[in-house]
Amino acid sequence: ETKRWIIHRDEIDDNAIQEAAALMRNGETVAFPTETVYGLGADATNEAAVARIFEAKGRPGDNPLIAHVASLPQLRSLVGTLPPVAEKLVDAFTPGPITLVLPEKGICARNVTAGLSTIGVRIPDHPVAQALLEACNTPIAAPSANVSGKPSPTTADHVWSDLHGKIAGLVDAGPTGVGLESTVVDCTQGIPVILRPGGITKEQLQAVCGTVMVDPALASTGEKPKAPGMKYTHYAPEVPLWLVAGPPENIQAVIDAEHKQQKRVGVMAGTDTANKLQADKVTPLGATLPEVAANIYDALRLFKHADVDVILCETFPETSIGQAIMNRLRKAATNYISE
Ligand code: TXA
Ligand code: MG
Repeated sequence: ETKRWIIHRDEIDDNAIQEAAALMRNGETVAFPTETVYGLGADATNEAAVARIFEAKGRPGDNPLIAHVASLPQLRSLVGTLPPVAEKLVDAFTPGPITLVLPEKGICARNVTAGLSTIGVRIPDHPVAQALLEACNTPIAAPSANVSGKPSPTTADHVWSDLHGKIAGLVDAGPTGVGLESTVVDCTQGIPVILRPGGITKEQLQAVCGTVMVDPALASTGEKPKAPGMKYTHYAPEVPLWLVAGPPENIQAVIDAEHKQQKRVGVMAGTDTANKLQADKVTPLGATLPEVAANIYDALRLFKHADVDVILCETFPETSIGQAIMNRLRKAATNYISE
């Protein structure tokens, strides 16, 4: 049985937080909202507790977890003195949707880092996550609270449908905000390297650090990614997803061609494009890139239940949060139809 607490992010029920924290201090797993996606938390210093996360998600053991803390002093206790670039990033973006990869100091259990000498650390910017982390008073290892390979959960119902019965608790405080995961930044070199694009954009990082590099594995398929999780096909809906570049007419042409083959076609697109298309199911994702980011995982999950043979998705400009959107769409897609 999974205990579910329904609380309000602006008026947090302290009893619920204390109960959830007590479960985690006792080595159990509890899902909770952050500003990006829901996380599945366990005491990062307790190896058996961390093992429960891997088991519940069906997560490969070579994929390290992010340690979540409530405060900067706690973060420093996990990684020691911050290199100058990490100090700048922490000043500018923490708490917020960024994860810093730094040399670890052996405080977390070994399975958190999957044997790496570095650890990802993050201070989430969500009042419920903050309250829970403060009440736990120990670092909390927390991957996204989905079954491995499914889209990350942006609502408590997503978590429930993936994990109920497999986890001890779920703190339900409604939909998350950003809708895509944190930006993972390797700070162990002099120059920061983006290992996973996310809620903090490359442009924002550049404004603070000057030069920023991107893990070459994100562009080519030949390289081995430095964030182990980036090598897996993530977020895949059960129906094939095709990315279709170019104007709405291009997408409509693909829809029409599939209709001629008696195929039922679903479409995901920005609202302007969606309004111009005729298909069996059309899901508008929003008018701006941040709206698209917030809606995309829910849309991928909804299409699982839609009676279609193929999902087409518009491509988006790779500026600001568009980089993270396109990164996730490429990982989910089985086909790319260029202009
Ligand atoms: O927004 C987020 O980051 C969410 C919320 C819950 O905080 N968490 C999340 O965790 O997305 P997860 O486990 O789904 O993704 C963590 C990513 C994986 O790609 C993992 O390989 C990478 O971060 N990662 C973690 N520790 C690392 C390390 N020491 N070195 C390189 N990559 C690391
Ligand atoms: Mg994940």
